[in-house]
Amino acid sequence: MNSRLRCLGVLSFFLLIACSKESTDPIIEVDLDKALIDALDNAAPNGRFFHFILADENNLQHLPNQDPHNAITREKVKLGKSIFFDPGLAQDANDASCYETYSCSTCHVPESGFLPGRIQGIADGAFGFGVHGSERHLLTSYEEQDLDAQGVRPLTTMNVAYMTNTLWSGLFGAKHVNEGTEDVWVGTLPEVNHLGFIGLESQNIEGVRLHRMAVNEHVLDDLGYRTYFDAAFPEMEENDRYSDQTISFALGAYLRTILTTRAPFQKWLKGDRNAITDQQKEGALLFFGEARCYKCHNSPALSSMNFHALGTSDLYLHGGVNTSSEDPRNLGRGMFTQDPEDNYRFKVPQLYNLKAYKTFFHGSSKTTLAEVIDFKIKASSENDKVPQEKISPLFQPLDLTEQQRLALLDFLENALYDPDMDRYVPSSVISGYCFPNNDGQSKEDIGCN
Ligand code: HEC
Ligand code: HEC
Repeated sequence: MNSRLRCLGVLSFFLLIACSKESTDPIIEVDLDKALIDALDNAAPNGRFFHFILADENNLQHLPNQDPHNAITREKVKLGKSIFFDPGLAQDANDASCYETYSCSTCHVPESGFLPGRIQGIADGAFGFGVHGSERHLLTSYEEQDLDAQGVRPLTTMNVAYMTNTLWSGLFGAKHVNEGTEDVWVGTLPEVNHLGFIGLESQNIEGVRLHRMAVNEHVLDDLGYRTYFDAAFPEMEENDRYSDQTISFALGAYLRTILTTRAPFQKWLKGDRNAITDQQKEGALLFFGEARCYKCHNSPALSSMNFHALGTSDLYLHGGVNTSSEDPRNLGRGMFTQDPEDNYRFKVPQLYNLKAYKTFFHGSSKTTLAEVIDFKIKASSENDKVPQEKISPLFQPLDLTEQQRLALLDFLENALYDPDMDRYVPSSVISGYCFPNNDGQSKEDIGCN
């Protein structure tokens, strides 16, 4: 066969495949993709469906919302990735029995969606890990108020690059939604905003102190951190190089890289039209259409820097310790701004990898995604302190068929699930300790012994 003929042969073979594929594809599938692109164009703040594509975690220069004081480098990411998981930094435990036993990841467990594997995160004052953070046992040597446990379920550290102001109240960060709130930057937590940093860089300066961690000579020289700080902050004077601020900058750099870019929906957005099923496409159409979820969940991470009252109930009613009906965190944004109008308004959280979550909402009031959907369908306050007239006007009851409800659930649960999150977990931490916890029971639970 001469080469022209062979060429023709190959060409017609491909045409044949292309044609036969075309003809077996049900028309409806083609329409679903097109309908979804139209819905996404309509839902995107910039009118373009590719607004919803998450930044590439490997392209450090293009990670969103960076702090101009903290250019992201590989060295900072590497250092932050170890600090986040390393119990070696637990230098300021209240009691010697907890020294070097907990880390950030005690409360932000990757396998549980970077959340605790239980209703609440507890670091200093408890021991044990269970399965993916399912168990923490309180130490009898601690009074309840001395536990490192907050009165809300943590927010995840996935996709936080899209959070310019952190916490459910948005209190950290000098810019964006906090511009004009300078009057309330007083007291232990918000004071740090006067440094002028973005949310992540501000928060973790306080976070390190609040969670009783530190770098000292022991951490630098015995545990091996000095050379990593030197590599990450070569331009800094040695006096400033090993501080709460540099820890925070390294953590900020690492946290910005935790992006759920391998979720099927992300692949679909990037052109792989078979990455999600028809049912998931139907679910996405509801999310970005009739069910109006996108009115609030509209960043690429399906979060937003807006605050809304839904009337979900608080953590003290769901087994939380060190919290009560008087906990200021129950007030959401109002805790920070002191404006009664902001009471019970919470930041709109991201929606990837929900399948790994053990509980939902700021008060851990739901334990399955199906319950969350049913709450969203009903749109009725379940919190006595939040009368229905306080509920966000964007939160309205939905009229969905059972089939639609299942499609929405399938979209959330599976299309938004990145199965490869272990790429953000180090194979070992710099101290060499068992991580994320290092007490005897945890070591057994994690399998470090
Ligand atoms: C004792 C449990 C606990 C530990 C330890 C802990 N966190 Fe958290 N984290 C929380 C809670 C609770 C919140 C939400 C608090 C709030 O909104 O008021 C949170 C929120 C966050 C957020 C905000 C995300 C957003 O969308 O606003 C980030 C980022 C974060 N933590 C990072 C860290 C880092 C880094 C460390 C280690 C220095 C750490 N956390 C240690 C419990 C913990
Ligand atoms: C009025 C704005 C608004 C609308 C509309 C809205 N949400 Fe939310 N969503 C929020 C806020 C605010 C929270 C956090 C509430 C809390 O914890 O008290 C939240 C929480 C969630 C959570 C729990 C996340 C977590 O971290 O535990 C899921 C899941 C969720 N929403 C899905 C949806 C879906 C699906 C829809 C559409 C059916 C929807 N939301 C519509 C504002 C909204």
